Amino acid sequence: MSQPASPLVAVLMGSTSDWETMQHCSSMLNELGVAHECHAISAHRQPAALHAFVADAEKRGVKVFIGAAGGAAHLPGVLASLTARPVLGVPMKGWATEGMDALLSIAQMPGGVPVGTLAIGKAGAKNSAILAAQILGISHPTIEGAVKTLRERQAGGATRLA
Ligand code: RP5
Repeated sequence: MSQPASPLVAVLMGSTSDWETMQHCSSMLNELGVAHECHAISAHRQPAALHAFVADAEKRGVKVFIGAAGGAAHLPGVLASLTARPVLGVPMKGWATEGMDALLSIAQMPGGVPVGTLAIGKAGAKNSAILAAQILGISHPTIEGAVKTLRERQAGGATRLA
């Protein structure tokens, strides 16, 4: 029986409530043929589980981490503190400031421990998948090819509106 490919990307989110947005990240990774896994692990409610997950994921071959969180969104920053592999952060649209709180929390990492920060919400979720694929594409020609195909499809032709 064929085994599923080992995940190259781990998509983590602070809460199951983030899945509605982050499913768009997972769909795009699927479209680009990137083996991945998605988990809800809170940095502040389940810190020990998060530490253990990152150590294990590295051993299993995960190359890029995507962290999504809302509010005082420290998950991507904590992730970045636990690994030297690239971490991409996706701010969730929060309940108080439409995601600006999360955007600033994720983007404003002090110099030394970067988090590559994407746009708030669905666009960021989708782009985090594409950016992860672009990073992996440097050493995985098939994934690089899938990104190029996506770009070609997006270029398309003129769209007649009326
Ligand atoms: C953050 O708080 C999560 O990432 C989520 O975006 C937000 C709300 O979490 P829940 O109260 O829905 O679990 O930690």
